[in-house]
Formats: sequence, C-alpha cells, structure tokens
Amino acid sequence: MRVLVTGGAGYIGSVASRMLAGEGHEVLVLDNLAKGHRRAVADLDLEVADLEDPSALSGVCSRFGPEACMHFAADSLVGESMADPLKYFRSNVAGSINLAAALVESGCRDMVFSSTAAVYGDAETVPITETHPKRPVNFYGLTKYMFEQALCALDRAGQLRCVCLRYFNAAGADTAADLGEDHHPETHLIPRVIAAALGSEPRAEVFGTDYPTTDGTCVRDYVHVLDLARAHVLACEHLQETGGSGIFNLGNGSGFSVRQVIETVRRVSGRNFEVVEGPRREGDPPALVASSDKIRDELGWRPEHPELESIVSSAWEWHSRHPNGYDS
Ligand SMILES: NC(=O)c1ccc[n+]([C@@H]2O[C@H](COP(=O)([O-])OP(=O)(O)OC[C@H]3O[C@@H](n4cnc5c(N)ncnc54)[C@H](O)[C@@H]3O)[C@@H](O)[C@H]2O)c1
Repeated sequence: MRVLVTGGAGYIGSVASRMLAGEGHEVLVLDNLAKGHRRAVADLDLEVADLEDPSALSGVCSRFGPEACMHFAADSLVGESMADPLKYFRSNVAGSINLAAALVESGCRDMVFSSTAAVYGDAETVPITETHPKRPVNFYGLTKYMFEQALCALDRAGQLRCVCLRYFNAAGADTAADLGEDHHPETHLIPRVIAAALGSEPRAEVFGTDYPTTDGTCVRDYVHVLDLARAHVLACEHLQETGGSGIFNLGNGSGFSVRQVIETVRRVSGRNFEVVEGPRREGDPPALVASSDKIRDELGWRPEHPELESIVSSAWEWHSRHPNGYDS
C-alpha cells in the first residue's frame, strides 16, 4: 500500500511511519518540520510541505499517488488554541480540508485521522463511549471535531472514507526504532516527570490533590504509542477492505492517577526527585478514561502494552538515551 503520512516527523506519526515501512508499505512523510524532527524520519522519504499550501499538497498527491493517508499533522496545544484560535482554524480545519481536497483530486479514497478525546469536553460518564456528547471545552478539541464533521460529509458524498481515532493520552516510546516523544514545550505528564527524574527539570508538579478519585489526583488513560500505531495500520487495512468509515476511541480502558505515574517513574528509573503538590489547574477534568470496546469489537485491536510500567519503562529508556530529545 502507498501511504502518505502527514505529521510523520512528529511523535506518533514517526512511529506509525516506521511500522508501515517495516511491514513493506511504501511511505511518504509530509511534514513542515515546525514541531517535527528530521531525525525521526530517518531514511524514509520526506516532503517538507505545509497543510496550508494547497498547491504543494496537490503536487505531492499527484506525484506520489497515495492509496491511503494517515493524517497526524496538527497543532495540538490546548492553551495556545485558546490564545490564538485562528492559528488552529487555519492549520487543523482549513489545512486538513486542503489535504482532503488534494487526496480526492488524486483519486485517494481512504484517510485515518488523528482525533482526540478533547472532542468530548467534560466527561459526563466514565468510561467514555463514542456516543458521549461532544462538547469540546477548548478550541483544539473544537477544530478536531469540526474536521471530523467535514469527513462525515465527504463520506456521505462518496468522496472519502475515513476512520477517525479519538485517542486519549499517547505515551511511551518505540525503543527498537529509537523513536520517542520530543515536544517543545512538553505538556504531557510522563515525559515531564521523567525530566524531573533526569534532573533536566527541577521538580515534578501535581496540580490538584482533592479530586474525587482514589488518591485525589487526576486520572488519565495512557496508550502505548506502539499500540496507537498498530490501530492506525488496522484502520487503514479496514478502509482498504472497504469496511467503511467509522469513529473509534483509542485508550487502554484503565485509568492511572498522577501519583501512580510519579511512583512508576520513581520505580522504573530508580531515582528520587522533588514533587510539588499545588492547587487544581483550571479546565482539568478529574478522570478521562476511554471505553475502547468498539475498536476491539470492530477492528480487532488489542493493546499489547497496557501496563503503565511497560509504557513508562520504554519512555524512560528513550529519554535517558536522549536527555535533550533528538538533539542529544
Ligand atoms: N500526543 C497525544 O497524546 C495526542 C492525543 C490525542 C490526539 N493527538 C493527535 O495526534 C496527532 C499527532 O500527535 P503528536 O503528539 O505526534 O504531535 P507532534 O506535534 O509530535 O506531531 C505533529 C507533526 O505535524 C507537523 N505539522 C503540524 N502542523 C503542520 C502543518 N500545518 N503542515 C505540515 N506539518 C505540520 C509537525 O511538524 C509535527 O511533526 C495530532 O494530530 C494530535 O492532535 C495526540
């Protein structure tokens, strides 16, 4: 299969690209390298282009002739989306529509889209199923939901089939391929706690210890990046076999608290570090845990690395090898 991977120089896209190539698929990475890393693309083909450049996208699609597209490229900082919504509408909505148009024009019919649990907003019931109300509380989640809606319209018009994967918290590393998480700024808990263990951050911070959870700290659902990448490959195969479009949650189905993550990093790293407990942060819901029954039933996806220990171990291994990320 010829697969165009947008955002393939980023964290999850690079792992998916390497998995596809390892399984004999022809891969072309498209990335503007604003947040991505050339080193993460290694020897795969890379086209440096921006989603906001429709003629570049048309050129790439007509030359490469993708049979499917995995669309990871996006801006995904919640705080930034609230401060600069236009940036998110341009990149995540208009840019994604440019991509869809170029794919349709080139005859490509299948897309796997990186959506997010942020489309749900505050959880009314946990675990969250796909039918949970969609009331995004930030513009990042809103832009992802808007593009999901555009994809549903293209599907109804018979122009593009799509699997939207609403993932919860991606974590861990592909240690065999030497690929890991290197975001600037880093907003995700596991790499931030690991940075404290490595001494590159002075301390780990806990925001809120009085939530109605087992230990008072926020609970989140972490999915190993290799399990996420596997879900994308399954979704692509499902579309190619014309299993039809669909929307699926992607999570472990079990939640881990901030304190559990900190304890796991201490155990795995064998290092102690300062932890500062502070007040709640505005907008953090107490618990976000996915129901992944639908993707298990319909695509046969099973997480191979569901334990927090193995997720943290792989991340620790990568970060200790690359304390300054890909620049190490
Ligand atoms: N990491 C998570 O926990 C998580 C959770 C839910 C959803 N997601 C979604 O998954 C996708 C991948 O996440 P990630 O953590 O790998 O992100 P990332 O920032 O590491 O990778 C995104 C890549 O897209 C590229 N990109 C961004 N805007 C672009 C544009 N306009 N044109 C071309 N390239 C562009 C960046 O340079 C980067 O390489 C994103 O769509 C994100 O919203 C991530």
